[in-house]
Amino acid sequence: PITQTLKEKAKFKIGAAVKMKDLQNEANFKNAVLKHYSQITAEYEMKMASIWSSATTYNYTAADYLVGFAQDNKLEVHGHTLVWYDSFPEWFKNAKYDSIAFESKVKVYITDVVGRYKGKVKSWDVVNEVFADGGAMRNETVINSLFKDPIGFYGRCFRYAKAADPDAKLFYNDYSVVIDAGKRAAIKKMVTRFKANGVPIDGLGDQFHYATDTNRQTMKTGFTDMASTGLLIHISELDIKVNTAKSDSYVFNDAEAQKQSETYKYITSMYEELPQTQKFAISTWGVTDKYTWLTSFWHSKEYPLLLDADYNKKPAYQGFLDGL
Ligand code: XIL
Repeated sequence: PITQTLKEKAKFKIGAAVKMKDLQNEANFKNAVLKHYSQITAEYEMKMASIWSSATTYNYTAADYLVGFAQDNKLEVHGHTLVWYDSFPEWFKNAKYDSIAFESKVKVYITDVVGRYKGKVKSWDVVNEVFADGGAMRNETVINSLFKDPIGFYGRCFRYAKAADPDAKLFYNDYSVVIDAGKRAAIKKMVTRFKANGVPIDGLGDQFHYATDTNRQTMKTGFTDMASTGLLIHISELDIKVNTAKSDSYVFNDAEAQKQSETYKYITSMYEELPQTQKFAISTWGVTDKYTWLTSFWHSKEYPLLLDADYNKKPAYQGFLDGL
């Protein structure tokens, strides 16, 4: 039988978050990326804390490798992420810049990084995770205390990225966008302001770190509302948790695998209903259950992706495909 792969069937890009060392050290990992995917994102190697090694140096080793790998294999690269409160380097935080110095440093960083990969990295998450649950400004970030108008600062970050590569598609990325009405309202308000002021935003990403028991109607209502902005829509870090109770005795059996498959199908068919002009990509946050951030950030027994630890397709893979 002829079985299509994800990238063959989809009329938009299918992305995977990857790390240099897995591509270099594990042929099965590399082959799985090449077989199923048409786009890559660095899981952390293109974040500020990885690249901006000191006030006077950049470390582009991994980022260059990933961009080169993509070019050699005709994959697109989605850049993640230029400005994220959780990835300001320690030296940068410790420098205690005032708002003028802070912004001029960030401007140089964005200009250098986006400029280096101009034409090669076709899209960027310019700003990641500004809002807390419910839609207030997140208070972990120094930006709120430095700037009287943080949103104004984020808008200028989009302008700096645009100046460095006018053809790159520029995204705002966050989590729980489709399930948190308050956060979504705050994002839509920001988008309205950006559009009114000519801030060059092209798209919105929702990370989609959801679970088999995430309410589907809530998801769909929120997704439609997110799409009402008219912007490109990126499902940017998709994975579906199964062990939501964080149980040490959890077993990922056939019934659980089937539930997960149905969740994936629901999500991809929801995405499929977008107008073609708003489709951009669905990216999974990883490739195989062997390596997923959730085993350290959530629970050791977690199986959130489309391929199992031996790189075999899970029912989730078929579910994803069936929704397309
Ligand atoms: C995570 C990575 O998966 C981890 O390996 C890293 O240590 C921390 O960051 N939202 C995001 C991603 O936007 O950048 C995060 O990635 C997961 C949550």
